Amino acid sequence: MARTDDDTWDLASSVGATATMVAAQRVLSNREGLIDDPFAEPLVRAVGLDFFVRALDGEIDLGDVDPRFNMQRAAQGMAVRTRWFDALFTDAAAAGVRQAVILAAGLDARAYRLPWPDGTVVYEVDQPEVIDFKTKTLTELGAKPRADRRTVAIDLRNDWPKALRDNGFDSTQPTAWIAEGLLIYLPSEAQDLLFDRINELSAPGSRVATEHIPDVSMFGDERSQQIAERLKQYGHDIEMGELIYHGERSDVIDYLTGHGWDVTAQKTPDAYAVNGFEFPEDGAMGFFADMSYVSAVKH
Ligand SMILES: C[S@@+](CC[C@H](N)C(=O)[O-])C[C@H]1O[C@@H](n2cnc3c(N)ncnc32)[C@H](O)[C@@H]1O
Repeated sequence: MARTDDDTWDLASSVGATATMVAAQRVLSNREGLIDDPFAEPLVRAVGLDFFVRALDGEIDLGDVDPRFNMQRAAQGMAVRTRWFDALFTDAAAAGVRQAVILAAGLDARAYRLPWPDGTVVYEVDQPEVIDFKTKTLTELGAKPRADRRTVAIDLRNDWPKALRDNGFDSTQPTAWIAEGLLIYLPSEAQDLLFDRINELSAPGSRVATEHIPDVSMFGDERSQQIAERLKQYGHDIEMGELIYHGERSDVIDYLTGHGWDVTAQKTPDAYAVNGFEFPEDGAMGFFADMSYVSAVKH
């Protein structure tokens, strides 16, 4: 369904289902021992979207969806991504930062799985149904956050800084932020506002990680449509082309550099190399080939 300015979702629908999709990939990375996220699998199973449950049960071969996909590629791709964002938090913690914000948290379980130093507060921001489902499911599993986890159930197109402050966020302290897998789901002006707000709320020494995707046009191309058609045959109706906002948007690397942040950016093929993985050169990675992982420190 086409996006609207005030659309909402749970983890089985619309943009929410993309959180379940990436969590399913984390299950594969976890199974390969490439990351340590024991919560991804029970969370994905609890959401219960048939396609992902069957894929995790080995009943669907990703190669049937696209011959260039396979479990190992999915596992490595998500391991590269997970490690990048994990590092933002562990590096920030080592530098003394004790306040973290996970924007668009989805099924991210970092509050439960990373070794946060004592006294760290971790805020998770996402839509209410997403936040509530994760909290409830992990509580039922007996999982305990390893930091002071505070949830902020709000749409990121609304006044989330106020909601964050109302929950105790302190903008005089440095903050570690991540916006992982988020930007393409925001309209261009909402992305600009997001970074204006992050910048305003960030004391010197704050850090942020995100991705920079220079071109999302492949989401409307023939291959994407073929994949979407094949996925439909499995009852999976997430159409990425309909969920993302197309067209020009600000370059996040330029934005951060221009606002007093020291930026490190790593293109996906380089990130694969750093992690000891071979980057698939057969086009399977689509726009990921041009994507960069970004992290920055405010001076
Ligand atoms: C691809 S998922 C990524 C989730 C998580 N960051 C991860 O990498 O596992 C996209 C997430 O962005 C969230 N999201 C997108 N637009 C949002 C908005 N306007 N307000 C709040 N959350 C939003 C969705 O609910 C979803 O959890």
